[in-house]
Amino acid sequence: MSTTPVKVAVTGAAGQIGYSLLFRIASGALLGPDTPVELRLLEITPALKALEGVVMELDDCAFPTLAGVQIGDDATKVFDGVNLALLVGARPRGPGMERGDLLEANGGIFAPQGKALNEVAADDIKVTVTGNPANTNALIAMSNAPDIPTERFSALTRLDHNRAISQLAAKLGVPVTEIKKMTIWGNHSATQYPDLFHAEVSGKNAAETVGDQDWLAGTFIPTVAKRGAAIIEARGASSAASAASATIDHARTWVQGTPDGDWVSMAVRSDGSYGVQEGLISSFPVTVKDGQWSIVQGLEIDDFSRGKIDASVAELAEERDAVKGLGLI
Ligand code: NAD
Ligand code: LMR
Repeated sequence: MSTTPVKVAVTGAAGQIGYSLLFRIASGALLGPDTPVELRLLEITPALKALEGVVMELDDCAFPTLAGVQIGDDATKVFDGVNLALLVGARPRGPGMERGDLLEANGGIFAPQGKALNEVAADDIKVTVTGNPANTNALIAMSNAPDIPTERFSALTRLDHNRAISQLAAKLGVPVTEIKKMTIWGNHSATQYPDLFHAEVSGKNAAETVGDQDWLAGTFIPTVAKRGAAIIEARGASSAASAASATIDHARTWVQGTPDGDWVSMAVRSDGSYGVQEGLISSFPVTVKDGQWSIVQGLEIDDFSRGKIDASVAELAEERDAVKGLGLI
C-alpha cells in the first residue's frame, strides 16, 4: 500500500448520499485497495452532531484503506490540501419541483466553496459537483476559483448515463456490459439528451438495433430524463445510493481513465465543441487518460439530436444568466 493518503473532501457528508458515498470511498471503491484515503467532511453546523455519528460508524467498519477522517463546518479548514472534492451538499428537490428551482437556494453554497478550494486545495485538485442543479453549481464553483484550471471542474451526469445503459440493456435483454459509448448531452435536468445514435450494443449501433424510433423518442428519452422525479415520487426522497454510486464511477473514471473503445458522460466546461456555447458546464461524451478528460470529437449530429442538444444547452444558458443576475458568477 502506498503511504501518502489521498485527501478526499465530501460536502453534505451527513446527508442521504453521504451515508452511502463515504462507506464506498473508505472501502476502496474509489481509489482501489492499495491507496489510503483521508476523508475531509464538510457539513453545516447543525448537522455536525449527526456527522459525528456517521464517523463513529466509519470507525466501526475498520476499513484498511481509511487513513483518517476530519470533519468541520469551515470550508477553508476542511478543504486544506484536498486532492479530490465531491461537492454533494445542497438542498434536494421535493415532489413537484424542478432542479432549476434550487438555483437560488443552492447557488449561494457553491460560490464560497469555490473560493475556499481556490485558496487551500492541493495543486492537483479535481472537483465533482453532485448537488443540484449540478451543472450550474459547478459553473459557480469554477467561476469563484480563478487559480484552479477550469478543466478541473465537472458535474455529475454519470447517473443519467448509467440509467440510460440500464434502460437500453433491459429493452434489448442484454447485459449492461454489452453497451458502450452511451452519451448524455447537456444539463442534468429533464432537458438532458440521452443519445442512442452513437451508442453501441455488442459492437452494433444501438439506435439501429432498437429499430423503434417511437420507443427511443417516446419512452427511452423521457424515462431516463425523468428518472430522478420517478424516484422522488416512489421513495419520497431523491435518489441516494445510485447517486453515490455514480459519483464514485465519475471520480474513479477521472482518476483511472476510460477503457479503449468506450467513453463516459461528464459535464465539463464547453470549449464550443458540437456548437455548445463556450464556458457552459455541459455534458459530453468524454475519454479520460492520465487524469485528463477530452471531449470525443467528430460525431455526426443529425437534426433530431441537434434539436435536443440545443434545447438542453439553452436551459443551461438560462441558468447561467440567472446566477449571473444573482451575482454568483
Ligand atoms: P440531503 O438533504 O440528504 O443531504 C444534503 C446535506 O447537505 C445535508 O446534510 C445538509 O446539511 C448539507 N448541506 C447543506 N448546505 C451545506 C453547505 N453549505 N455545506 C456543506 N453541507 C451542506 O440530500 P441528498 O439526498 O444527499 O442530496 C444532495 C444533493 O445531491 C441534492 O442537491 C440532490 O438534488 C443532489 N443529487 C444529485 C444527483 C445527480 O445525479 N447529480 C443525484 C441525486 C441527488
Ligand atoms: C436525480 O437525478 O435522481 C437527482 O438529480 C435528484 C433529482 O432531483 O432528480
